[in-house]
Amino acid sequence: MSSASFLGLLGAVHGVTLRFGMDIDSRRWLDWPPYAYKNTTTGELAGIGKDIADGMSALCDNLTIESVETGWLNCWTSDGKLGPLLENGTLDACMTYSHGRGLRDTLADWSLAILDDNKPAGLMTLLLNGKPVVSGMDDLAGKTIIDVGGWAPTADGLGYVTNKCTNQPYSSNYTLAVGPENDDAMRMLRNGEGDAVFLYADQAQLYQCAGADVAAEWDCSLWSGFGTEYAYVQTGQKGWAVNGTTLAMTKPGSAVPGLINSCLASFMETKEYYDICVKHGFESSCYTNSFFPSGSASMASYEKPTNELTGDCSGGYCPCSVEAAPTTTTAPSATSSGAVEVSLGSLAGLISMSLL
Ligand SMILES: *[C@@H]1O[C@H](CO)[C@@H](O)[C@H](O)[C@H]1NC(C)=O
Ligand SMILES: *[C@@H]1O[C@H](CO)[C@@H](O)[C@H](O)[C@H]1NC(C)=O
Ligand SMILES: *[C@@H]1O[C@H](CO)[C@@H](O)[C@H](O)[C@H]1NC(C)=O
Ligand SMILES: *[C@@H]1O[C@H](CO)[C@@H](O)[C@H](O)[C@H]1NC(C)=O
Ligand SMILES: *[C@@H]1O[C@H](CO)[C@@H](O)[C@H](O)[C@H]1NC(C)=O
Repeated sequence: MSSASFLGLLGAVHGVTLRFGMDIDSRRWLDWPPYAYKNTTTGELAGIGKDIADGMSALCDNLTIESVETGWLNCWTSDGKLGPLLENGTLDACMTYSHGRGLRDTLADWSLAILDDNKPAGLMTLLLNGKPVVSGMDDLAGKTIIDVGGWAPTADGLGYVTNKCTNQPYSSNYTLAVGPENDDAMRMLRNGEGDAVFLYADQAQLYQCAGADVAAEWDCSLWSGFGTEYAYVQTGQKGWAVNGTTLAMTKPGSAVPGLINSCLASFMETKEYYDICVKHGFESSCYTNSFFPSGSASMASYEKPTNELTGDCSGGYCPCSVEAAPTTTTAPSATSSGAVEVSLGSLAGLISMSLL
């Protein structure tokens, strides 16, 4: 009998205990509140994944999910493979991964999503006197685009999304540069090593350093000046994902999705799910149930297709109508101190990485 079907039989008879991994990002690899973090007040694992797992354990008698701390690289490796602790069964699943197209969909199995396809991508560029260096109308031909190597959307994601100002696919005639994670990509942008960064459309907002109980493992100074020094010129770019943020990414053929999906679907109908969504500020990207106030689903700017934005770039999201800043001969200067020399050669191997 395979271990997967053994697990299934055990679950049906006695209930099952599953071990789900999550990082707290203390190793600086990345930091991802409110998905997965450590509450600095209590010292405990925290985040929407853990809260939902705890809620399911309480709701479903025959299911217990233990949230355990692990490195993200144990879940998904730097060269784009299933991580070793999922591979050898130490972990039954890893939490809060986005179900992306391409490698992820091929090399892992997935539970249902806990958040809607809520992680649109966008393009972020520097502002010069309130005008973006690259306009939203740009098809990126001849531009250098920085991808955040360690994160979804993966570098091939630009091929799956369309320009939300022109509704056209992008030119394939751009140069790709890679920063292993968000801080590196932002540094490269500020140093003029690329024209724009392709990354999660909500990333800049999540990296504004105001939160109290969340340990910031990223460089807050790099992300200041949102709406004055830099802004998004593309928002709401979907299409790179199969589904939203999931509770479980597993080894292919794992019994885990089958063991948890019905409990997860039941839990997502409860008031507790709604409360967790509110606690973590995810009302607009959670799946609504009867406890959500009706008509309250207003979309955040980062979620909207760019052609629905109005105004100027000062909120951090430029509408399509804002033209590119006149080109100057001087490259935009770095505004943050301590810029790190990033060697593209050494990063080439990271190009297919895709962590979260
Ligand atoms: C738990 O019990 C429910 C209802 O009896 C059943 O449908 C489900 O398959 C069981 N889940 C597991 C993990 O055994
Ligand atoms: C899984 O791999 C880890 C890391 O190599 C190792 O420490 C652990 O003992 C392995 N577990 C099993 C069940 O093989
Ligand atoms: C995505 O997740 C939602 C919510 O859990 C579920 O209803 C839907 O069937 C999932 N879709 C796919 C393609 O997995
Ligand atoms: C790519 O872009 C560059 C710079 O805009 C241009 O010179 C070149 O002709 C373009 N190549 C193709 C194949 O479109
Ligand atoms: C941290 O834990 C405290 C005590 O339970 C709680 O009040 C607070 O909301 C938590 N903060 C975060 C960011 O989870």
